[in-house]
Amino acid sequence: MNNKSPTVIKIRAGGQHYKAVVGANLFGKVQATISPALAGHGPRCAIITDSNVARLFGDRIKQSLTTVGFEPILIPIPPGERSKTLVQAGAICDQMIAAGLDRQSFVIGLGGGVVGDISGFVAAIFERGIPHVQIPTTLLAMVDSSIGGKTGVNTSAGKNLLGAVHHPLLVIDDVDVLKSLPRREFNQGFAEIIKHAIIADAGMFKKLTQASGPPIGRTRPMASLHIKNSSEALIRLPLRAGFALQRLIERNIEIKWKIVAKDEFDQAGERALLNFGHTVGHAIEAAAYYREILHGEAVSLGIVAACTVSMKKAGLQKEQRDAVVELLHSFELPTRLPKNFRREKILDALRFDKKFNRGEIRFVVTPKIGSAHLSSEVTMEDIHEAVAQL
Ligand SMILES: NC(=O)c1ccc[n+]([C@@H]2O[C@H](COP(=O)([O-])OP(=O)(O)OC[C@H]3O[C@@H](n4cnc5c(N)ncnc54)[C@H](O)[C@@H]3O)[C@@H](O)[C@H]2O)c1
Ligand SMILES: [Zn+2]
Repeated sequence: MNNKSPTVIKIRAGGQHYKAVVGANLFGKVQATISPALAGHGPRCAIITDSNVARLFGDRIKQSLTTVGFEPILIPIPPGERSKTLVQAGAICDQMIAAGLDRQSFVIGLGGGVVGDISGFVAAIFERGIPHVQIPTTLLAMVDSSIGGKTGVNTSAGKNLLGAVHHPLLVIDDVDVLKSLPRREFNQGFAEIIKHAIIADAGMFKKLTQASGPPIGRTRPMASLHIKNSSEALIRLPLRAGFALQRLIERNIEIKWKIVAKDEFDQAGERALLNFGHTVGHAIEAAAYYREILHGEAVSLGIVAACTVSMKKAGLQKEQRDAVVELLHSFELPTRLPKNFRREKILDALRFDKKFNRGEIRFVVTPKIGSAHLSSEVTMEDIHEAVAQL
């Protein structure tokens, strides 16, 4: 798919530095990347993964580590958001203790964002903090969740309510692993990529638009989006996008870490820009009970709503909103809610949003593709209007 040699991106986070290595066929030589970064750690380590990913790549990673003297244990958890709990994190820690892992040990998170978040949380609390290596296997995890150090689990009261900021020591992105990713999972990664383009990179937006061509099909209701292997999309992508997937992932890592570096603990307002499209997106996820709709699909709808609000409150041109809708559409992402969707639940979820309880609304708007800012001018009515148009 890609003959480019691996790229090493140096990431600054707080007082720490770490590397993200992006390339093809990295899993065959994972030990060569891990060994220098983890010198002085081990030999025992845990590979936390989910059962789908374990089946695909678990043995290969375990084998690579064993050949250089590490003693890995593989800890698979059931796939999906329902595994991201404190109980599951506790069970993982128990297995690590039983296997004799200690303060010198390290944790590898091999999987999508669910695995990345819970394995990072385990690494943050085990022996008060041991190193975490992220090996993301979904596009969303590569371009978003593996970067920035946010780790955590859900509670029955909401998503990501317990957590810690614990940056990884190393991130390894092997683009080849995306070949087995279901198409719908692959496409949802583009919601975050398009979000990055809107808030920070007009050039990337233009390249994606020029290369993506006409929409693949008419917008289909989410329920009928069928899951099929993504290889077709993967093969087509470099052609359509005009630049390799590897380069695209690299650019998105760069955008995310640079925003995070300015505001590691989410206090200055800079990191909040990454929430573009997420206020309405999260409310849609909640209204769908985190089941019928993937995170990226909800964010796609949230981006459309945020663009509608931006037209009213930040001077975004209608043509730019239309271009955003078209681009999302061309990656088979939803831009309209299905007819029978329970819209009133979205409004309920918005009312319960932590950000709104104190009466002040901080909403991320874009005045022009490539830039974004927090606005306190947006009212609940503006948001309701935008949801009504979805
Ligand atoms: N920490 C952050 O900053 C951050 C940011 C965004 C999202 N997240 C979190 O990320 C999670 C969503 O992540 P996700 O979308 O990657 O979902 P996920 O981890 O559930 O993975 C999606 C599905 O794809 C499967 N899969 C993973 N890699 C595969 C591969 N290479 N081939 C075939 N199947 C594969 C998984 O088994 C799973 O069924 C959410 O919990 C969200 O809260 C965190
Ligand atoms: Zn997101």
